[in-house]
Amino acid sequence: MPDYIAWSPEKAVEVIGAEADKEGALMPILHALVRTFGWVPDEAVPLIAGILNLSRADVHGTLTFYHDFRRHPAPRHVVKLCQAEACQARGSVALTAHAEQKLGTKIDAHGHTHGAVSLEPIYCLGLCASGPNALVDGRPHARLTPDRFDALMAETVR
Ligand code: FES
Repeated sequence: MPDYIAWSPEKAVEVIGAEADKEGALMPILHALVRTFGWVPDEAVPLIAGILNLSRADVHGTLTFYHDFRRHPAPRHVVKLCQAEACQARGSVALTAHAEQKLGTKIDAHGHTHGAVSLEPIYCLGLCASGPNALVDGRPHARLTPDRFDALMAETVR
């Protein structure tokens, strides 16, 4: 995971100011905020609107239109479970249900965070013969069972 810094309005104003003179500055600003903090809180909307002289509705509309702009703090861990056909044939549907129950969240392509973990789908890791597969913080894990998933989470989330 990249090292993000904690959200602060003062730092946000600095980040926004560094991009504000660019052509079509809103998108570069939103990307810069994500690179810096890992997310763009709603609190950023009036700051951006004020500096760019845009309406809050315009900024909010752009922020919420693009799902790449995370609107919640970045999770400490990202678990991506393969949802493609070969992994489905090898048990990924049951594994996903187990993971959702274990983590207390639903698998979500937009990566909404629940606690320390974001549970997200991925579609084929190229390891189809050894599914069901997952990427946990970017590392592949094969032949997952509910028990192996639980052990992996116990190691990962301490
Ligand atoms: S279908 Fe899951 S790795 Fe290919």
